[in-house]
Amino acid sequence: MLRVLILSLVCFLMSVNLVEAKTTVSSQPFGKLPDGSAVEIFTLTSGAVEARIMTYGGILVSMKVPDRTGKVADVVLGYDTADGYFGNSNNPGTAYFGALIGRYANRIGGATFSLDGKKYSLPANNNGNTLHGGPHGYFNQVWKAKKIPNGVELTYVSKDGEEGFPGNLTATVRYTLLGADLKMEYSATTDKDTVVNLTNHSYFNLAGQGQGTILQHQLTLNASRFTPVDAGLIPTGELKSVDGTPFDFRKATAIGERIDADNEQLHLGKGYDHNWVLDNKGGKLSEAAVLYDPGSGRQLRVLTEEPAIQFYSGNFLDGSVKGKSGATYALHAALCLETQHYPDSPNHPDFPTTELKPGGRYHTVTVFSFSSH
Ligand code: GLA
Repeated sequence: MLRVLILSLVCFLMSVNLVEAKTTVSSQPFGKLPDGSAVEIFTLTSGAVEARIMTYGGILVSMKVPDRTGKVADVVLGYDTADGYFGNSNNPGTAYFGALIGRYANRIGGATFSLDGKKYSLPANNNGNTLHGGPHGYFNQVWKAKKIPNGVELTYVSKDGEEGFPGNLTATVRYTLLGADLKMEYSATTDKDTVVNLTNHSYFNLAGQGQGTILQHQLTLNASRFTPVDAGLIPTGELKSVDGTPFDFRKATAIGERIDADNEQLHLGKGYDHNWVLDNKGGKLSEAAVLYDPGSGRQLRVLTEEPAIQFYSGNFLDGSVKGKSGATYALHAALCLETQHYPDSPNHPDFPTTELKPGGRYHTVTVFSFSSH
């Protein structure tokens, strides 16, 4: 009896210890913005894996993961200081490195939409359209932060009328790290009918940030259709089959293999910059994408409850930006896999709705799951 008791006590203590050893969370000041507002950075550590998230823009500043030999590298593009990100957010060449995007991720055509018969005008910041919530979108705001088990909870309240959107919207994003899984749990409530579409805009290079291009990375997208775009990268409304096109990533394919193909959609996007309609629907967490770097053996799986994903192959990176440790980010130095609702949904009644009403709750989960082989 005594032996059983001692054994169970040992097991209990071990399990407590294991739970505690899982992820540590710490926070430090991370400088000030030009207007004097203080920025904090949270470090989530689980063994060799480390994610750092700052309160400005809710930005994933670094993501360190081991390769197949155990060598750790930071696999997201960015800057060494909060100031670097601030400068970039306020540039015409804004890249949105690592940022949380809202109130509406991707584009709203003509910078306008109607809701309940009322027309809303938004600031146009991208060829007459609104991109990533406008120039003062969520990526460009300081979020309130609170430590939670295994991570950090960020909250931002955008005011009724801010960047043209109706309703006071309270958005909360919980970043947690479990093993090598970085989970983002997004939620939002409103006091007026509105639209909402939140995502994270990390730029991945699994060889390590600053280590060449992602053209050799192999990508799988679990999507049989995508939404073709016009010259302003606004969906035409068609859901087009990927069959027989350079947009078919249903089998792992090197990104560089067809990126220069003579294809009208690739010309319009200057490469891949499109929304793939995921085959798995129904708000269940499902695998959307797998990205693999044969060189390092690092792999990223993207799981999401969202109906779509924007695969952007870093087509606007041109080497003009100096990133972390002086790295230069040239064309295709990284790629984004932005889980989302379809771009311009407020103007496409037949797309899955992005409307949120008072009393309702927007809630969606995306996981960046890292491994190596
Ligand atoms: C998104 C857009 C791209 C580009 C990047 C940021 O992925 O779809 O067109 O604007 O953001 O540069």
